[in-house]
Amino acid sequence: MAAAPSSLASSHLSRVADLRRAAAVAIPAVPQQLRIGCSRRRAQRVVAMAGSGKFFVGGNWKCNGTKDSISKLVSELNAATLETDVDVVVAPPFIYIDQVKNSLTGRIEVSAQNVWIGKGGAYTGEISAEQLVDIGVQWVILGHSERRHIIGEDDEFIGKKAAYALSQNVKLIACIGELLEEREAGKTFDVCFKQMKAFADSISNWADVVIAYEPVWAIGTGKVATPEQAQEVHAAVRDWLKTNVSPEVASSTRIIYGGSVNAANCAELAKKEDIDGFLVGGASLKWLLFVALKTPLANFITHFQISMVFKQDYVY
Ligand code: PGA
Repeated sequence: MAAAPSSLASSHLSRVADLRRAAAVAIPAVPQQLRIGCSRRRAQRVVAMAGSGKFFVGGNWKCNGTKDSISKLVSELNAATLETDVDVVVAPPFIYIDQVKNSLTGRIEVSAQNVWIGKGGAYTGEISAEQLVDIGVQWVILGHSERRHIIGEDDEFIGKKAAYALSQNVKLIACIGELLEEREAGKTFDVCFKQMKAFADSISNWADVVIAYEPVWAIGTGKVATPEQAQEVHAAVRDWLKTNVSPEVASSTRIIYGGSVNAANCAELAKKEDIDGFLVGGASLKWLLFVALKTPLANFITHFQISMVFKQDYVY
């Protein structure tokens, strides 16, 4: 497949011109104690969405936390006012999921960071989709670059996990993304499309899937993709879905961005039409995310507000 053509993004922009439009709205007041460090960012912000689902914000806590720090984080999430029309999901380490499920408000859903490829049994160290369902976990993150590149999971293995998790009604945050050398070699689209195909071959119900584009070079590095870089890939992935799955799936599937998202960069990213939310790693441990209300003022007009509020208590 050809390397990422920059014209793709602009043709896509015109394609989505009849979809959602965004308008600027002022950031709502948030409680003073939660507004630490963000007051200077109270500018007008916009979220635009080509995808037709709710804006989606996931917090991937990775292999971080203790009973105490997680209990504190959960208390703060419980105390936060989350607007109604945004999906918020957190992914604690397996060992703390039950603690989180038993203490977190039902307003926020819970994801696992991994799952076994099939039914449970003699698979030492694994956790099955049935077990996730048993303790009320609604989501699983699969294809994350840390599992692809550190653990060595390949597309086929990830695809099997995806198929089985979905068969057990565990919803999927399907991660894709290129390494720096792949981007530099002009292979960003090739890599993302190959990873998309492996997922698509395993997915029959797209209603339970969110795609997370996470360029590997941006994860945990502080080097966020520019809004234009992210939009270009998101638009291409949506076009890929249109061509290879269906126009309906292309328009309804949320494509979220991950990779060094924080309070300083989220608003600019969220303005891009094909960025339908975020998967946040490090900042989800030390920032509370407030993703505000979708207010339909007229047909096809959608307002979103985002405010991410700095919390310094969590070390990443
Ligand atoms: P980061 O991680 O926000 O720390 O870059 C994102 C992710 O891995 O999902």
